[in-house]
Amino acid sequence: MSLPRVLSFHLILMLSAFTGAADGYYNSGWKECIYSSHDLSDMVMIVNYIFNKDVFLQFNSTVGEFVGYTELGVKNAQRLNSDGTAQQERAEVERFCKHNAKNRQSAIADKTVAPQVKLSSVNPAGSRHPAVLMCSAYHFYPQRIKVTWLKDNTPVKSDVTSTEELPNGDWYYQIHSELEYTPKSGEKISCMVDHAGLKKPIIVDWDPSLPESERNKIAIGASGLVLGVIIAAAGLIYYKKKSAGRILVPT
Ligand SMILES: *[C@@H]1O[C@H](CO)[C@@H](O)[C@H](O)[C@H]1NC(C)=O
Repeated sequence: MSLPRVLSFHLILMLSAFTGAADGYYNSGWKECIYSSHDLSDMVMIVNYIFNKDVFLQFNSTVGEFVGYTELGVKNAQRLNSDGTAQQERAEVERFCKHNAKNRQSAIADKTVAPQVKLSSVNPAGSRHPAVLMCSAYHFYPQRIKVTWLKDNTPVKSDVTSTEELPNGDWYYQIHSELEYTPKSGEKISCMVDHAGLKKPIIVDWDPSLPESERNKIAIGASGLVLGVIIAAAGLIYYKKKSAGRILVPT
């Protein structure tokens, strides 16, 4: 495809700016493909020709032809609309915009990464309830996600606070939701997370028994206690045996 003549014309203008004029001239041009529907049916292509920040000539694929906004733009629009360039640009919607959008869609937009879900207990300071649970979903894409709290498999809405989906800065997102509650015996609390990357929602039930690190601390403490008791008992037995062997001599 040959470059539209208007662009090469301004490239010459730019050269003259570089060869000594005090104020520079700025010529630029860009092509944009705008769409929001997944099937690309609303694709619009815009080609702008800009001189010193003013658009003087534009091709808008919805309009279907070049439109000029200055005397120079109007002159060029007439030429480009009659010499076959406008026809070429109309075909660019398929060849350039839709072709690239399809590739991007399959390589980026349609990719999903399922979240990893963690349920933990947090300090209830400042809460009206004695217990606060936090459900965190990490490393998911795309942004849209649904975090729901369940009490005995029934969704709860009250006493729930959640962050937005927070961007990690590496394409992935994370979100954190807190539930304030008053523990009841036999009640099952769960966090349910649904996301495009999942075949069915992840449901994590809260296990109110102590976490492993706490269990380890208790085990270490208990072994210490047992050891101490054994040593103390051995000492006592030794002492008793020794004092039993001694004969008291009357004075
Ligand atoms: C393209 O043209 C259509 C129809 O005139 C208009 O609605 C739309 O806003 C134009 N797009 C741009 C970016 O100028």
